[in-house]
Amino acid sequence: MKFTSGTRVGVLYGGLSAEREVSLKSGEAIGKALQELGFTVIMIDVDRNIVARLKEARVDVAYIALHGVYGEDGSIQGVLEYLKIPYTGPGIMASSIAMHKVMTKRVLLSYDIQTPDYTIPDIGSAEVVVPSGGYPLVVKPVAEGSSLGMSVVTDAANLDPALAQARKFSRQIMIESYVAGVELTAAVLQGEALPLIEIRPRDGVYDYKAKYTKGFTEYLVPAPIDESVTRKVQELALASVRALGCGRGAVRVDFRLDMDNQPQVIEINTVPGMTETSLLPQAAAAEGMDFVTLIDRIIQGAGLDLAPV
Ligand SMILES: Nc1ncnc2c1ncn2[C@@H]1O[C@H](COP(=O)(O)OP(=O)(O)O)[C@@H](O)[C@H]1O
Ligand SMILES: [Mg+2]
Repeated sequence: MKFTSGTRVGVLYGGLSAEREVSLKSGEAIGKALQELGFTVIMIDVDRNIVARLKEARVDVAYIALHGVYGEDGSIQGVLEYLKIPYTGPGIMASSIAMHKVMTKRVLLSYDIQTPDYTIPDIGSAEVVVPSGGYPLVVKPVAEGSSLGMSVVTDAANLDPALAQARKFSRQIMIESYVAGVELTAAVLQGEALPLIEIRPRDGVYDYKAKYTKGFTEYLVPAPIDESVTRKVQELALASVRALGCGRGAVRVDFRLDMDNQPQVIEINTVPGMTETSLLPQAAAAEGMDFVTLIDRIIQGAGLDLAPV
């Protein structure tokens, strides 16, 4: 075991992103589990004084429970590398690629991993080019989470309002072909695939409300789909994680099946939600792993990425 009881673990949570509220909940659950494991837990609500806070708290290792910008995108990872404080989850580059949905696609496509067609609307141009398959489409920010700013657009008349909505959350936005089939998420823990979860939002769209309101979405673990499709999705999840180099800790690859039952990667989350009822802990539970053991596995995997200087 790398980190033993008494190690000073800083739980970095809250933060500056639009997903702050979700992160506060993840951080609280993680802090509780780390305490049960016997670590000395220091809860740090991250703001621009983070460097001073880390030093003053004499943190030995950081558990990153920050979702979204500054937390999931390589920024905080860079701060921790600079301070030589080992941290959970992927390093700087893998984090920033995974946070950027277009860069993620470029990497995945270079490995022939399927992901929906997309276009990037040109800010200067009056005419918006949409993916060749036409409607329905999904409009979303390139670097956000929790479905913030995401809309499903069924016809041209609704495109402009959807673009404006997405722009509220991110400077860069994207338009994607809508993938109509089953939604699945594949949790990967230290390079191993966990059971798949099928996601069935009650109103059809997996938006912020569907994600965080009790009873708005049904989750089926393990996903009741063909064994061959399960295996294929798990293999693609592992291949995606290898392609991005984001295998440290616990990550989640989101998928939808297309009309031909072919899995399409929607995105990769390098700091997935971590309350006891979040998806990744549910996937671990389906394999008999309780929340505290899961958090122990993740903290024991913490490290630094850059060469020592
Ligand atoms: N191309 C798509 N086709 C169908 N549904 C999509 C597509 N892209 C996103 N969605 C829906 O929107 C949700 C949020 O999109 P996602 O890309 O995962 O962003 P976020 O980072 O906000 O979770 C997905 O879980 C899915 O339900
Ligand atoms: Mg998602």
